[in-house]
Amino acid sequence: MLRPLFAFIALATLSASALAQDKPLAQEKPADPGRDLVMQKCAQCHTDSIWRDQRQNANAWEATAYRMMARGGIWTTDEVKTMAAFLGREFGPDVPRAKPQQR
Ligand code: HEC
Repeated sequence: MLRPLFAFIALATLSASALAQDKPLAQEKPADPGRDLVMQKCAQCHTDSIWRDQRQNANAWEATAYRMMARGGIWTTDEVKTMAAFLGREFGPDVPRAKPQQR
């Protein structure tokens, strides 16, 4: 008697989880090694509130990263270049500042 109900619940649960897997959160933004590095490395000593309002090109971000190395950051040249490229793109001179409510 109850079997059709169980079958229905099982099916509904299955299709709900299949739907949920349609668009995993991690895939909404394309993989970006620069973003990953910045998230890891630039949060070791302070939050992003210290730099996220700055707008400058990749060279200037590179200089910022080397200033951070003088403060104790230990990164390879490649890591610095990858982070600077990401920061110069996402926090470059032409990128509008975030409005307070967007943070
Ligand atoms: C080893 C610790 C450390 C790490 C890692 C670090 N910072 Fe800093 N950062 C500091 C310290 C210390 C200050 C100075 C804070 C103050 O003056 O109150 C600072 C200040 C800053 C400033 C403002 C002063 C300046 O020189 O421009 C910016 C911008 C900044 N950090 C960006 C970054 C970015 C981008 C990263 C990742 C690439 C990063 N930080 C990683 C320690 C660090």
